[in-house]
Amino acid sequence: AQTIPSLKDAFRKDFGIGTCLNNAQIDERDPKTTEFIVRQFNMATPENIMKSALLHPKWDTYNFEMADKLVAFGKKHNIKINGHTLVWHSQLPPFIRGIKSPDSIRTFFTDHIKTVAGRYEGKVFSWDVVNEALNEDGTLRKSVFLQHLGDDYITEAFRLAQQAAPKTELYYNDYNNEQPKKRAGCIDIVKKIKAAGVRIDGVGIQGHWHVGKVPFADIEESILQYAALGVKVMFTELDIEVLPRNFQGADVGARMTANEQSNPYVNGLPDAVQQQLAADYENLFKLFLKHKDKVTRVTFWGVNDGDSWLNGWPIRGRTNYPLLFDRNNQPKPAFEKVIALKK
Ligand code: G3I
Repeated sequence: AQTIPSLKDAFRKDFGIGTCLNNAQIDERDPKTTEFIVRQFNMATPENIMKSALLHPKWDTYNFEMADKLVAFGKKHNIKINGHTLVWHSQLPPFIRGIKSPDSIRTFFTDHIKTVAGRYEGKVFSWDVVNEALNEDGTLRKSVFLQHLGDDYITEAFRLAQQAAPKTELYYNDYNNEQPKKRAGCIDIVKKIKAAGVRIDGVGIQGHWHVGKVPFADIEESILQYAALGVKVMFTELDIEVLPRNFQGADVGARMTANEQSNPYVNGLPDAVQQQLAADYENLFKLFLKHKDKVTRVTFWGVNDGDSWLNGWPIRGRTNYPLLFDRNNQPKPAFEKVIALKK
């Protein structure tokens, strides 16, 4: 078989190429998978294992086993790790639901950031310090943190992270923050952190987009506006969904039509969609290359189509095709278009 070109090598002089990783991959259960990951990627973000529910299952108990393995995997294979994530309203430990006092929330928040960022100082390259704190209109999401700690909790999280991890890059990460209103909220966050004399090194645009509807103009404008604040710009969870999705928010199952809930491409992706996906990825990477002085990393949310969270959301058991490699790690037309930009 012909050797598949390497993304990380092709874009080495431009930006890092990352993927998210899960337990089976980190455990190196399949040597061929490891070989494939190491050949294609030089950056990785844990898909779930560094979220607080998994790292911090009980009030006084941390479980670092998988996260330590991830760090060892990165060291062994020369892959830089982006920790994900210190402060997020989702995937919180269940005990948080029982906490009603602001003081206890503050104790959890402070202890968690100090302990986790401190443990991995010098071991991870960067942290998504705060994830998804914004509503679509640019206001702050009513999370347990906002509710109990007030508006300053984001700056406070960065301050604590900076103290615990002075050499680690610190980022704010969100989805749809290339959209004008949410972008404005994100810009306010960066400005506020900087005004407090606290360090923020970058903004992550997750990049969960839909085939044929990638908002190129908003993306370019966002790269420029974020970079103008003096922070790095990263695409942190890139995938391009191909299945119907005409809903907003999480409680969507009920609002989807029977047709949308079905699995239209279970037997394969129609050629027209495949070509559109390839064109979307090609145009995205053209844009990233155009702004390679500002864009430092492009991370895919999964190694191949079979790994993607989009096979299971908003309903389980769909067959999605959002990435550059198919379920057998074979390159798709989108991969060929992207790699051709460097030939
Ligand atoms: O591990 C349990 C398993 O024990 C249990 O049997 C099973 C049944 O529900 O659930 C498993 O946990 C699931 C976990 O993924 C690991 O597979 C959770 O239910 C599921 O909710 C969780 O989904 C993750 C999701 O974040 C949670 O919000 C996805 O894998 C992960 O890709 C996704 O990643 C997020 C980023 O962190 C932030 N940005 C958006 C992105 C996509 O939603």
